[in-house]
Amino acid sequence: MSRPDQADYMLRAAATDVGRLYKRQLVDLLDVREGHTVLDAGCGPGTDLPTLAERVGATGTVVGVDRDPAMLAQARERTRELPRVEIREGDVLDLPVDRGTVDRAKIDRVLMHVDDPAAALAQLHRVTRPGARVGLAEPDWDTLVVDAEDLETSRVFTRYTTAHVVRHATVGRSLARLAERAGFGVEAVLAHTPVFRDVEEADHTLGLGRNMEAAIAAGHVGPERGRRWFASLSQGAFFASFTLVTVVCSR
Ligand SMILES: C[S@@+](CC[C@H](N)C(=O)[O-])C[C@H]1O[C@@H](n2cnc3c(N)ncnc32)[C@H](O)[C@@H]1O
Repeated sequence: MSRPDQADYMLRAAATDVGRLYKRQLVDLLDVREGHTVLDAGCGPGTDLPTLAERVGATGTVVGVDRDPAMLAQARERTRELPRVEIREGDVLDLPVDRGTVDRAKIDRVLMHVDDPAAALAQLHRVTRPGARVGLAEPDWDTLVVDAEDLETSRVFTRYTTAHVVRHATVGRSLARLAERAGFGVEAVLAHTPVFRDVEEADHTLGLGRNMEAAIAAGHVGPERGRRWFASLSQGAFFASFTLVTVVCSR
């Protein structure tokens, strides 16, 4: 999703209860061990790198790859005192990692943004060793529900988000199928449901006002109806949620 401060969004999302839970579960299921080489493809501001570094210990290596220099700067800052972490600039569609050198890899909320998710999975297959484990986590934005009396406009908002805001908005549901097609064996499939009860937090993460304005500008909903819908979200109890899918597979 395009947003003014990507890193801030990612850090806030990771700090929520569900954010912490699915990330911890993903790392636990990866079974990262002392001495492993672990890749975080699309590492963003490096949220997960310290945890991975702790698990690989003094003899392992953690490689964080991202294509965004601002993210890389934050990832470097976050891991400044962790000598086993290497940050590399690169694209997940052309990973700057040698063939068959990685024991564990994860890609978390990145595939929805890339040009070709299947090509990114093929890259993960290339860089991992036989027996490696790979963890994938992506939302499915078709499952975004926002409570409002004007249910139809909530549906318009979700449809606009999936069709125009996120490139591969429904990749979450396809992770297991894509992983199999890339040559991995699927070991576990889990789903988490982040719940938003605070409208400002939801607005920040889901772009409620921003994307509704874009939907209005593109003619998907009338200005009066769209803005009335957005204003109504601040009146009374608020609820929004979506599904985040995690898949752990083996090479
Ligand atoms: C939603 S953030 C997730 C960051 C991190 N995985 C996390 O869980 O906190 C998406 C990240 O993917 C990176 N990204 C998107 N497309 C990419 C690509 N083709 N190659 C490398 N990084 C990419 C973005 O720069 C951004 O840092």
